[in-house]
Amino acid sequence: MCGIVGYIGNDNVTPILLKGLEKLEYRGYDSAGIAVKTDESLEVVREKGRIADLTEKVGENLAGHTGIGHTRWATHGEPSVKNAHPQQSNDGQFTLVHNGVIENYRQLKEEYLSDVEFTSDTDTEVIVELINYFSKQGQDTENAFNSTLRLLEGSYALGLMDKDIDGTIFVAKNKSPLLVGLGDTFNVITSDAMAMLGLTNEFVELMDGEIVILKQDSVSIINPDGNEVERDSYTAEIDASDVEKGTYDHYMIKEINDQPGAMRKIISQYQDENEQLVIDDAIIEQLKETDRIYIVAAGTSYHAGLIGKEYFEKWAKIPTEVHVASEFVYNTPMLSEKPLFVFISQSGETADSRAVLVEVKKLGYPTLTITNVAGSTLSREADETLLLYAGPEIAVASTKAYTAQIAVLSITAQVAARELGQEIDIDLMQELAVVTNAINAVINDASIIENIVREYLETTRNAFFIGRTLDYYVGLEGALKLKEISYIQAEGFAGGELKHGTIALIEKGTPVFSLITQDKVNLNTRGNAQEVEARGAKVCTISMAGLDEEGDDYVIPKVHPMLSPLVSVIVYQFVAYYAALHRGNDVDKPRNLAKSVTVE
Ligand code: F6R
Repeated sequence: MCGIVGYIGNDNVTPILLKGLEKLEYRGYDSAGIAVKTDESLEVVREKGRIADLTEKVGENLAGHTGIGHTRWATHGEPSVKNAHPQQSNDGQFTLVHNGVIENYRQLKEEYLSDVEFTSDTDTEVIVELINYFSKQGQDTENAFNSTLRLLEGSYALGLMDKDIDGTIFVAKNKSPLLVGLGDTFNVITSDAMAMLGLTNEFVELMDGEIVILKQDSVSIINPDGNEVERDSYTAEIDASDVEKGTYDHYMIKEINDQPGAMRKIISQYQDENEQLVIDDAIIEQLKETDRIYIVAAGTSYHAGLIGKEYFEKWAKIPTEVHVASEFVYNTPMLSEKPLFVFISQSGETADSRAVLVEVKKLGYPTLTITNVAGSTLSREADETLLLYAGPEIAVASTKAYTAQIAVLSITAQVAARELGQEIDIDLMQELAVVTNAINAVINDASIIENIVREYLETTRNAFFIGRTLDYYVGLEGALKLKEISYIQAEGFAGGELKHGTIALIEKGTPVFSLITQDKVNLNTRGNAQEVEARGAKVCTISMAGLDEEGDDYVIPKVHPMLSPLVSVIVYQFVAYYAALHRGNDVDKPRNLAKSVTVE
């Protein structure tokens, strides 16, 4: 949510910032801006809309060797040029980019800045004016920055330039992600390593509360006690080509197609040379110790958690609850004696989940993060981490992370089952290999699913997804995917629940997707489909081979029923993709959304 880049080096900073922002655009895309230190002055260019709009406005002539840039997802103040970053102090002395939310900005404004005329509605302008305030009181820039940080409550990643200090960016972070990237003749900052992979893959992590003085040839990290700290860099194991679309039209379709590869990678990462499933001993201990697992997640990751619960309960016999992160913080359920908290998060940065992590850590409970991003905040802060190995996910609508989460949850639950001495009636590695082939088969049928979209969704304003047990959970995900990128109002329901109210919404032609992969509820779901059909709905039936009947619209290959979500969801991912595409929507960057939600 919002992206920051900064560069100091020999090359012209303008194209570097714009390219970096393009890579970060998925984090927020309602406005953007850059600040560049030229030979004469510090120039700021901002524009509403996408990076392409900003690039056009910047033109050809802006050049310098130090600069910062920002792409925004609006929190305070509507998307507009005046609310775009960088924000400047009103005398132009200081220029700032900011990710995060300052909770006490109103109070600070009243207390320190009542004389200042503000030009934006942002909390960020308060920060930059506070720095100016302390500077006017005689503090040098580093101290003015420090004095300001001490007053801020909330989350921030900041890049600051002083128009009179050449070749320096002042940097700080608290709860929002920010990295320093190292080069031979330059240094950079970025809120996501992938934005700077074209320049470097050597990064230094920053800790909350630290200040960094970044210059072309030095990086000084100063801890909250004012002492300089040494920190080793790490190499980001991401290939620059992983973050390109290649020949695909959209990241989303690329990422749907990445799923067989991701499955193979997961299978290889989580087995030893004897083809036995493995996870770290420390995690096995956590699983053996606990009397109840609390899965905490948001959105698509929450939907993956619902499937994970089935694995932990049915295979490992560990009672498991799944919670929406943003609710859990304010409405904590009664906890068992030995809870284990499992955070599922593609980005590892979701603020709602992190808020829970912070609270349960204070209570001393064990924590495990399942994430796609090594080194992400949730990964760093939890006791243990399991990685998804799905490769960078850039489209805002999550696809391959969801299936990777389910696969990793299945492996974790199987290891727990084995270690707890539970009876095991599935050869998971073998079955995941079957799943991989089945995913490939569905991918090869993309054009058939596109025709289903033409038949069912071309003109509709709403749609329903029904199913029972695991198929219900996949329906929830199918509905979320469809609404977030096609803007069709879609809801997922347990098949049996429709008749308790929602069936009132069924009219002639209302599309209802009915998913059938579970033998024991096959007839029940078909019965529910008939109930809506009798009331005029157009029912699209997706079934699994072996449970299919004549007239079903699409049949997925047969896989182990506990793993069917990994395959059936691919159908819904294509449904959402083509529905959005046919409506002319921006598939990868749907309106109002951002990829990683770093505000609560
Ligand atoms: C939907 C989607 C979101 C995320 C949610 C949590 O396609 O991507 O619902 O799943 O914002 O994000 P992570 O998994 O990064 O914690």
